[in-house]
This record gives sequence, structure tokens and C-alpha cells, in this order.
Amino acid sequence: MRVLVTGGAGYIGSVVVAMLLDAGHEVTALDDLSTGHEGAVAPAAEFVKASITEVGPVLAERPYDAVLHFAARSLVGESVEHPDRYWHNNVGGTLALLDAMRAHGVPRIVFSSTAATYGEPSAVPIVEDAPAAPTNPYGASKLAVDLVLGDYARAYDLAAVSLRYFNVAGALLRPDAAYGERHAVETHLIPIALQVAAGTRATLDIYGTDYPTTDGTCVRDYVHVVDLGDAHLRALDAAGPGHRVINLGSGSGYSVRQVVDAVRRATGHELPVREVDRRPGDPAVLVASNARAAAELGWTPTRDLDQMVTDAWGFTSR
Ligand code: UFG
Repeated sequence: MRVLVTGGAGYIGSVVVAMLLDAGHEVTALDDLSTGHEGAVAPAAEFVKASITEVGPVLAERPYDAVLHFAARSLVGESVEHPDRYWHNNVGGTLALLDAMRAHGVPRIVFSSTAATYGEPSAVPIVEDAPAAPTNPYGASKLAVDLVLGDYARAYDLAAVSLRYFNVAGALLRPDAAYGERHAVETHLIPIALQVAAGTRATLDIYGTDYPTTDGTCVRDYVHVVDLGDAHLRALDAAGPGHRVINLGSGSGYSVRQVVDAVRRATGHELPVREVDRRPGDPAVLVASNARAAAELGWTPTRDLDQMVTDAWGFTSR
């Protein structure tokens, strides 16, 4: 297939670009480089520096079979402070992309949705039919796109899949190249812990030790970025008429302390931690049901937390 990857210079986008090329697809990566890195795009892909609001001329050049849509702002805290950025970029930008896809007859889209659409879950593991109740503008903007995709798929004969990611970690390591996470503003647990191990940050703050979990710290469902990429390739093949929503998670939860221990094992660093107050808006436990991904995509993740941390460390320390 010929595939346009928006956000192709970002963390997950760059991994998926490399995996699409391996699978024999022709790939154009589009990114405005507001947070991505051009050097992260595999050389065999065509690269276009542009915003998703300017995608028309790219789609006019040749027929595309699909868009994999990663481009988005994705910081929960920023979304609370500057919701305009999330509604304009994530929702307005996606509407412009969908208009261009309709104008140029692109039949499929696979969209990066998020566990943040569910908000504070009433039951875990979280199934896709659970109520959507995002607690921040980031999650709300992603949910809005999921709703748009449902309407557009019905009315305009679009094949659409929303993949709701839980906590993505790890890297794609190759003898000649590596694709991983390097955010200018880092808020995620594993990369921050690895910064401590690498000596670029003094301590790791554990946000809250009084949650109703076995060790008092938050529990999350971590999924390796290569397993996630594999799910995208499957979704591309499986996309049929209509809109489908599919969780991507491992189905198991790890506490913050368990992640810290995994980082200690992988790096051999003692990893000093400080126990501090809760971070506002963090649910105690987020774990996916991945039964639908198994049934509809034939997907089951195979890389465990130790593998994620080891690969992320391999990327950080390369
Ligand atoms: N945490 C710490 N210290 C840190 C960073 C994080 O203790 O320095 C804790 C958080 O409180 C949380 C866990 O580690 O309990 C994981 O936090 P991350 O920031 O790595 O990830 P989140 O679970 O907050 O975020 C994920 C996705 C978001 C999505 C969100 C939905 O990365 O895109 O789930 O809740 F919006």
C-alpha cells in the first residue's frame, strides 16, 4: 500500500514508518517538526515538512491507500493550561486532514486514540464499550476525533480504526538505526527514570504513594512500541467499512514502584527516588482489556516490561 504517516517524525510515528517500510509499503512521512525530528524518519521514506492542515497538495500528487494519523499534541498538563492548542491542532487539524482525504479519495485511516478518552474508569480491565469520560482537554480532543470518525465512516464510506493506546514504552533497535522517544519536554515515567540512570536528572519523583493499590503507587498498562507498531500494520490490513475502536494494551498492570525496579534491573543504577504528592488527574489504575484487539486484529503483545525498559535504555544510551 501507499501510506501517508502524519506525525511520522515523532516517537511512535517514526517507529511505525520503519516497520511499514520493512513490510513492503511505500511511505510518505509528514510532520511539521514542532516536536518531531527529521532525522528520526527512516531514509527510505519520503519526508514532507508540513502541517496536517496543508496535506492537500501531498495527497494530490499520487493516490494513497491509507493515512496513519499520529500527528497531535499529547501533553495532558499542557492541554489543561492551553486547551486551544488541543482543540485547534488535534480536532481542527484532523478535520482538515479528513476533508483532504475525501477530496482525494483516500479510503482508510488508522487513528492514534488514547486511554485518556475513558477518564477515571469505573471498572478494570477497561473494555472499549466503557463510558468515555475524559478528565482533560487532551483526552477530550482525542474522543472528539473518535466521534468524528464514526460519523464520517458511516456517511462517507471511510474505513476508520481508532487505536486507543495505553502506556507506550520501549524502542525499535536495529544494527544500523534506532527509533525511540526523545521529547524536549518529558513527562513520562520510563524516560524520566532513564534520565536519572543516565545522570542527566538527579532523582525520580514518585507521584503519590497513597493510592488504593498493592504498594500505594499508580498502576498502568505498558505496551512495547514495536508491539504497538505491529497492531497498526494489522489494523491497516483489517480496516473495512465503518469505524472500529480497539484498545492497545498488554492487559496487565504494573505499579510505579515495579517500573522503578525494572529500570534498576535494566540499568544497574540504584535510581534514587523521592516520594511526593499525587499528580492531579492521575487515575489509580488503568489496565486495558485487549480481547477485541486479539479477536479483530489477531494481535497479542509479546514484549514484557523488562524488554521495554531494556530497549528504551538501549536507545537512550546508544
Ligand atoms: N509518574 C511518576 N513520576 C514521574 C512521571 C510519572 O510517578 O516523574 C507516574 C504517574 O503518576 C503515573 C505513572 O507514573 O502514575 C505513569 O505516568 P506517565 O506520565 O508515564 O503516563 P500516564 O499514565 O500519565 O499517561 C498515559 C499516556 C497519556 C494519556 C494518559 C491517560 O501516556 O498519553 O495515560 O491517563 F493521556
